[in-house]
Amino acid sequence: MTSYVEKEDVFEKASISKLYSQYRPQYPNVLYENIMSFLGEKLAPPHTLAVDVACGTGEGTRLHADRFPEVIGTDISPSQIAEAKAIEKFPNVSYQVAAAESLPFKPNSVDLVTVASAIHWFADLEKFYNEVDRVLRPGGCLAVYTYNHNDMRLCFEDKTERISRIFQEVGSTT
Ligand SMILES: C[S@@+](CC[C@H](N)C(=O)[O-])C[C@H]1O[C@@H](n2cnc3c(N)ncnc32)[C@H](O)[C@@H]1O
Repeated sequence: MTSYVEKEDVFEKASISKLYSQYRPQYPNVLYENIMSFLGEKLAPPHTLAVDVACGTGEGTRLHADRFPEVIGTDISPSQIAEAKAIEKFPNVSYQVAAAESLPFKPNSVDLVTVASAIHWFADLEKFYNEVDRVLRPGGCLAVYTYNHNDMRLCFEDKTERISRIFQEVGSTT
């Protein structure tokens, strides 16, 4: 099985993490409203802890900030976590270096686990799902999501059409 590190050390440089946090597209608020509505059907409030696994520089993590008393982002890359910590403004959001396959949480302690645009990187999905089962409270939810690349346009000066077309071509072959 291919490990995360063997694939490429793409998330291991502080300079990359800085660019990542600057240019990563944001997720829409409506996505988080839908997740909360689904969670509410499965597990009655109060909800106390959301964990964003493979959080990168925290783009999705901090969208939980006003919905949970405590939010923790975890990522295997120390440089992604360092950048997430450096830019974090919410006092109830914190970050830890951890692999998705070994989550640093007690059994039955988490209400919601999210994974944004990252599950395809995990080295061992079975281990990850076992960990999710272990840490979630009964009724707690796992939400896995990513972008719809087919509708995505990359906008840059007068090159928007050209780079969007290249992006679509590359996306359709991977
Ligand atoms: C494309 S980024 C997504 C980051 C963030 N969730 C977002 O939406 O911007 C993928 C992230 O997955 C992390 N990652 C890859 N394999 C991992 C693993 N096994 N456990 C935890 N994080 C992992 C990388 O370090 C990287 O930050």
